[in-house]
Amino acid sequence: MNPTDPIQHRLCETLKGKTTDRPPIWLMRQAGRYLPEYRAIRSQVPDFMTLCKNTDLAVEITLQPLERFTLDAAIIFSDILTIPDAMGLGLTFVPGQGPVFAHPLQEASHIERLSHDVTQDLGYVFDAISHAQRALNHRVPLIGFSGSPWTLAAYMVEGQSSPDFSKALALCHDHPTLMHALLQCLADNVIAYCRAQIEAGADVIMLFDSWGGRLPDALYDAMSLAYVRMILSALHASHPNTPTILYAKVPYARALNLIDTQASAVGISHEVDLARVRTSCPNAVLQGNIDPTSLNANTSESVIQATRKCLLAQGQGPAIINLGHGIRPDARIENVHALIHTVHQYQPPTS
Ligand code: CP3
Repeated sequence: MNPTDPIQHRLCETLKGKTTDRPPIWLMRQAGRYLPEYRAIRSQVPDFMTLCKNTDLAVEITLQPLERFTLDAAIIFSDILTIPDAMGLGLTFVPGQGPVFAHPLQEASHIERLSHDVTQDLGYVFDAISHAQRALNHRVPLIGFSGSPWTLAAYMVEGQSSPDFSKALALCHDHPTLMHALLQCLADNVIAYCRAQIEAGADVIMLFDSWGGRLPDALYDAMSLAYVRMILSALHASHPNTPTILYAKVPYARALNLIDTQASAVGISHEVDLARVRTSCPNAVLQGNIDPTSLNANTSESVIQATRKCLLAQGQGPAIINLGHGIRPDARIENVHALIHTVHQYQPPTS
């Protein structure tokens, strides 16, 4: 290779629709509690956001999984709830309960008063990205990310995680204009946030619409996908060379809707039949789908089988190997090694 040529990373090449020697692999939540070295750092600070706001610790944790495993991407250590935190909702992570907001959105005036530009309060994320990029030194691409407006709004209205996000759904039904004002405000913030992440050095942007599946069919497009499309087209207009990955925990029919957006790749949840999506969309760049619970088993047989099944389902199409949702705290390290080894060893069937 000519020394002035840009480095050809598997992930970025695949996101451009190009073929690589083998599919790239990385894991959603690859830096997290299943790693003893993460737990060691986590135990030294009172709460999770302290880690995100400390540049040195956030960079160290971003790099931890790359020291252990041969992965094709790093993802910046942060959280999707940084935007609501910067909007003044008072975020804490309560052990055993997850995220809790001190000031959830309970009245119209709470939404009307929200700030449309919080990027100046999120400098700690951009600092972590630029420092992580320097530490990576082009080893692998760095993924920046944000939650989708709907997924962020669901937490902000509910005040915490919820099995059904019923308060947020009630707002969609009872006060749609107010909900749209909230979603638009979040979309503006997400666009500015992602642009600043790219300017700080993120090579790829991933959007998480983790709770897209909680919306009924009649509301999904208007309350979630419309805003995701707005964000993707704004990012592609300002930064046409930065690829995007869109993940949503949604069933088959909606996975096809995601592919219809302008996202460079779509993350497929493990509840969806990947082979069926591949048959419908032979040229789409598809990521994910391996059941994260297969990493919790006592032996590696399940995850090896699940990984082979995923590779076969991808067929000849452009593929990024990953899980169907985030890795769980009780995932076993040997199983993560087995998953990655299976991908590295894979020989596509010759037809
Ligand atoms: O390695 C990576 O993927 C990067 C870091 C990352 C985290 N959260 C770190 C984290 C990313 C990309 C996220 C995204 C995120 N955060 C999503 C979208 C992806 C998904 O899982 O659907 C969502 C919905 C959140 C919100 C969130 N953050 C919840 C519900 C929780 C609690 C989870 C729990 O099981 O307690 C978090 C906390 C969180 N974010 C942790 C980590 C490593 C654990 C907190 C801790 O160490 O105490």
